[in-house]
Amino acid sequence: MFAPTPDKLRYEGKAKQIYATDDPALIVMHYKDDATAFNGVKKAQIADKGVINCRLSTYFMEMMAKAGIPSAFIEQIGPRDQLCHVVEIIPVEVVVRNVVAGSLAKRLGVPEGGRLARPLVEHFYKSDALNDPQINEDGAILMGYAAGWELAAMREYSLRVNDALRTFWDGLGVDLVDFKLEFGRQNGRVVLADEISPDGSRLWERATGRKLDKDVFRRDLGDLSETYRELYQRVFGESLGG
Ligand SMILES: Nc1ncnc2c1ncn2[C@@H]1O[C@H](COP(=O)(O)OP(=O)(O)O)[C@@H](O)[C@H]1O
Ligand SMILES: [Mg+2]
Repeated sequence: MFAPTPDKLRYEGKAKQIYATDDPALIVMHYKDDATAFNGVKKAQIADKGVINCRLSTYFMEMMAKAGIPSAFIEQIGPRDQLCHVVEIIPVEVVVRNVVAGSLAKRLGVPEGGRLARPLVEHFYKSDALNDPQINEDGAILMGYAAGWELAAMREYSLRVNDALRTFWDGLGVDLVDFKLEFGRQNGRVVLADEISPDGSRLWERATGRKLDKDVFRRDLGDLSETYRELYQRVFGESLGG
């Protein structure tokens, strides 16, 4: 049984810790209760967020495996721990948008909520120091962040993830507004990495427009722990710990 001990800690991020295992090709991702926004400027502890995100991300990564999309995820081994393949993270984050919101609305000076005629794929250079600036595929290639074929695979996988997630949330009366994905290199191929969770997604209740994602924390709209518990209940049909 794996126990996350300090001597094995290899990286501490904003939402997760990465632990080494006895196998150099495998890591454990440990989900913390820390919530951050605006690149770490706003911080709080959200009760059980780590447990909820870990379980949700496990569920979605397994859903993607069934849809033929490879990922670094292997299995969940504890309430907030996932065993994963080590990958070389590609420093280009992919955002897929179905509805105008967040930084897109801000950048273009348009209101949130407009439905896009088809999914919009955006790219951001993964750099905390620079606040994850937007970049296009040409820029990512020319700066050496990713190869053209890798970006093509990332785009195709991202759109397929969008199709699967959108159908899923649709069935629960929730609109998938947008989400962020990370990818990595493993044995010469591109795979999904990191997490798929409400921390990196926008989820709006269709009937009311109520936000069911990390914007509740970013914008002080209510209790994020309660919101995530409600999402958990909707997805798994039972309350956390019940
Ligand atoms: N399978 C993997 N192999 C190596 N690194 C990974 C893997 N999955 C995720 N990561 C990286 O580990 C870190 C996870 O911690 P997180 O708290 O999300 O960090 P951050 O503060 O950078 O968002 C991220 O930097 C992510 O890119
Ligand atoms: Mg992260």
